[in-house]
Amino acid sequence: MDKRLIIVSNRLPYRVEAEGQDGFSFTRSVGGLVAGLEPLHEHPGNLWIGWADEPESLDEGARRRFEQALSERACKPVHLDAHDAELYYEGFSNSALWPLFHGFPQHTRFDEEAWEAYVRVNERFRDAVLAEAREGDTIWVHDYHLMLLPSMLREALAGASIGFFLHIPFPDFETFRMLPWRSELLRGVLGADLIGFHAYDYVRHFLSSCRRVAGIENASGTLFVEGRLVQADAFPLGIDYERFRTAARKPEVRELVTAFSEEKGHEGCKIMLSVERLDYSKGIPDRLQAFDAFLDRHPEWKGRVVLVLVTVPSREGVASYQALKKQVDGLVGRINGKHSTMDWTPVDYYYRSLPFDQLVSLYAASDVMLVTPLRDGMNLVCKEYLACHDGEGGALVLSEMAGASYELNEALTVNPFDLEGVVDAMECALTMPVAEQRRRNAPMQERLARYTSKKWAREFLAAVDSVKDRQAGLS
Ligand code: UDP
Ligand code: G6P
Repeated sequence: MDKRLIIVSNRLPYRVEAEGQDGFSFTRSVGGLVAGLEPLHEHPGNLWIGWADEPESLDEGARRRFEQALSERACKPVHLDAHDAELYYEGFSNSALWPLFHGFPQHTRFDEEAWEAYVRVNERFRDAVLAEAREGDTIWVHDYHLMLLPSMLREALAGASIGFFLHIPFPDFETFRMLPWRSELLRGVLGADLIGFHAYDYVRHFLSSCRRVAGIENASGTLFVEGRLVQADAFPLGIDYERFRTAARKPEVRELVTAFSEEKGHEGCKIMLSVERLDYSKGIPDRLQAFDAFLDRHPEWKGRVVLVLVTVPSREGVASYQALKKQVDGLVGRINGKHSTMDWTPVDYYYRSLPFDQLVSLYAASDVMLVTPLRDGMNLVCKEYLACHDGEGGALVLSEMAGASYELNEALTVNPFDLEGVVDAMECALTMPVAEQRRRNAPMQERLARYTSKKWAREFLAAVDSVKDRQAGLS
């Protein structure tokens, strides 16, 4: 029999809202972590533990129904006090760890009160996991919100199989050392048996911090923490390739593609697309500035290309995200004001999340996909675009600062800080013959179809088992 897996992450795979008298509606959470783990969660018996973020003011009965509804979806909510939740999520996780690890010191705030809430919330998660964990389970903790949890669990369950995966970049030592709580966080993560990252560079940075902050040496990613063997390694997350490939061929999606292409791509007008959470790490203002410069340098494209810019609301309580929203609104207004004609608007701007079929039809309808983050742990959107163009053309412009660029070398890679380089890549993508697009896409599609999110999870979990075997061999 398969071992049971307990997935632990800040966010559950569903956002829950109150509906009607005493019901709830469930929508899928947005983000790479949920997208990657969803197929694994569907496996019978597995359980997902995460922050409830429940609708406000539930009475006792409503809360029971809420828990029941989640339990039917194999989810177990962790309830957090509102003040702690804010300090832990908006404060420490998204105003200290996220900006620092992505290399944005200007957005980074260190606050003792937020740190203390982060510790308390990790303890709440520990209690929730301990209430569920049974002998033989594998516990897989995810991401920067829960870096203390592996050690907290290790203290209570000395022999348990515990994995940890970081979905964002791990910064170089010079950056990491800025964290006042760097030792605690490293020690926290080292409670796991296996520590996974999207890329070898992040593994290297992590190992260098282990040596320089905690004095722990390694040999090929193997470390000894108080005599216990721990492994760090790279596992690049893939996508559910078949799901996107098949969806892009569904008749109802093809209808959406045709309708969309006719509306936006009228009289041969090409569609350039970008889709992401509204996050400063995604480089949205820089991309807009490059598009503005592109239209200045290449006026022959005026009226012949539309940039469809989909931004998904994210972390709206955090000041730096609110400021970004204003900046993007302003830039879109300025570019449209400057270049629009009576029958053409250059930027088609959306601030909302899209249902799956619409997202797929947008991918499928677009001639060019612009994925130009300033920093991104992995980035799945670029992979999903390629899956929706299986066997077809479509030009991918990809930032070399995204973890995905390690695998997708046939894309048009750009340095997102180099405005002229991005302008040139836009032109190159728009004029690239379809035969060349296909030639570039084919090897990337072949790799993505092979290294799926299911395979990623299987390999990570097999590697946890192998660490346990090595530990047993030493005792
Ligand atoms: N996504 C979504 N709805 C949207 C836009 C995006 O579900 O309206 C998904 C998208 O399909 C992808 C994920 O959000 O799987 C974004 O993951 P990525 O790794 O690109 O970035 P992250 O948001 O994790 O930084
Ligand atoms: C990234 C993080 C995830 C997070 C997601 C969405 O992918 O690595 O941990 O869930 O962004 O962000 P949110 O703050 O809405 O959970």
